[in-house]
Formats: sequence, structure tokens, C-alpha cells
Amino acid sequence: MTGESTPLPAGRRPPLAVRALRLLWRLATDRPYRNVMYAFWFRPKAVFQPFNDTRAERYPVIFGLVQSRLGKDSAVRILSFGCSTGEEVVTLRRYFPHAFIKGIDVNPGNIAVCKRRARRSGDTRLAFETASSTAAEPSAAYDAIFCMAVLRHGAVGAAGVTRCDHLIRFEDFAATVAEFDRCLKPGGLLAIAHSNFRFGDTPTAAAFTPLMSRPPGPNTPLFGPDNARLEPAERVDVVFGKRR
Ligand SMILES: C[S@@+](CC[C@H](N)C(=O)[O-])C[C@H]1O[C@@H](n2cnc3c(N)ncnc32)[C@H](O)[C@@H]1O
Repeated sequence: MTGESTPLPAGRRPPLAVRALRLLWRLATDRPYRNVMYAFWFRPKAVFQPFNDTRAERYPVIFGLVQSRLGKDSAVRILSFGCSTGEEVVTLRRYFPHAFIKGIDVNPGNIAVCKRRARRSGDTRLAFETASSTAAEPSAAYDAIFCMAVLRHGAVGAAGVTRCDHLIRFEDFAATVAEFDRCLKPGGLLAIAHSNFRFGDTPTAAAFTPLMSRPPGPNTPLFGPDNARLEPAERVDVVFGKRR
């Protein structure tokens, strides 16, 4: 999925009719893409980042920190929220060979891809579910929750955007991370990367200690609790430990 990439200059793009036919063909044959474009065009309230760009080994520093804290060989329970087509879960399996890992994504086309891949691998300690929140997950059930490149919207990175609430709202972010807190065990770890909001601005953060900060990703401006754009930050906290 290349939803956030820069379009080719007009002179080098195929003619409009070719692009329109390609779009129609992809909408007809590619279910994850069809759902992405539906969410992009119609903006259902429950969806944060509609684009499902992902790849394996995307977050080695963050995954490495969580592995060093939880232990590579421990039988921990991990949640990948916004797992897209599953590359993040496949990567997490390498970091945590004995873990139970669950992937949740709002796009049923993505989850269908994840389930097919899991069936082929024969890995029985993986689970996938289509959902827009962790409301159906049990309380204090996970040792780590990863929410990578989900609590954002690519379009708020455009020049001149001063507010984000036409696309994503701080109150939905705050409600989502409060749910993560409920699902995490005491002492559990929460990773939130490439977000347009700061976890530290939510009431939930009072129960957590920041453990790692990183420079903000490209095309990832920050917005405050009033949904207004903040001054650029040099670093943002991305991994948090829930106090016992
Ligand atoms: C850019 S992808 C990130 C994929 C992966 N986490 C990564 O970083 O490589 C964002 C994903 O978040 C999912 N998503 C957006 N809003 C969601 C929500 N409310 N609940 C669950 N998934 C959501 C999208 O469907 C998409 O697959």
C-alpha cells in the first residue's frame, strides 16, 4: 500500500484513463485496498490511520527494548493493535518465540490476510480479530501492547494543516489508550509510535513511566488535547511502563 507516498510528477504519470482503470481493477480485486479507500473517502469515526502500509522489522529499536525487558524466552501475551496484513506480528514472533500474540485491525481485508498467513505457518499461538478497539479484550491480559503507526492520519501532515479534528480527534486517542491501560497487566509495556498525539497528554499517562523516546517520524506533526498543531518536537516518548 502506498497511500502516503508522493505522487509522480504529472508529466511522468500514466494517462488519466489508465490510472482510473487501474484504480477500478484494484478496488474490484484487492479487498484490503478496497477497505482502505472506503475508510479514506468516507472517514468512519472508528478508524484512525486508514492506510495499511507496513513491513517486517520496521521497529527494531523499540521491539529490542521490549524484548530486553520481558525476556526473549518468556511465554508472554502480546497485542499488536492495528496489525495491518500481519508483518508486525510475524516480526514480533521472531522477538518472542514463545509468546501468545494477538493482532487486531479495523480492516477485515487485512485480518483475512493475517489469518491465511497464520494457517499456512501452523503457528497455533497466534490470534487475529477484526475490531476498532480493545473493548472486547479481557482486563489485565497483556504483557505488552504495540500500537505502531495507527493513532495518526497521513493527511494531517499536509502543509498548512493547523488542526486535526476533521480527521482524527484527541478524545478518541485518549479513549483508545485508556482501553490499552485496562488490557495491560501491572508492570506491562505500551509502545505507541508515529502517533499524531502524545500519550503524556492523556490522563492515562499518570499510571505509566516513559522508558524510551525517539525523534518523531516523517510526516507526523503533533497535535495537543485541543486538536491544535503543536510546535515540532525533537523527540517523543514511545515506550511506557505501567507501574505495578
Ligand atoms: C499504517 S498501518 C500500521 C501497520 C503496522 N502497525 C505497522 O506499523 O507497520 C495502520 C493500521 O491501523 C489500522 N487501524 C486504523 N484505525 C484502527 C482502529 N480504530 N482499530 C484497529 N486498527 C486500526 C489500519 O487498518 C491499518 O492497518
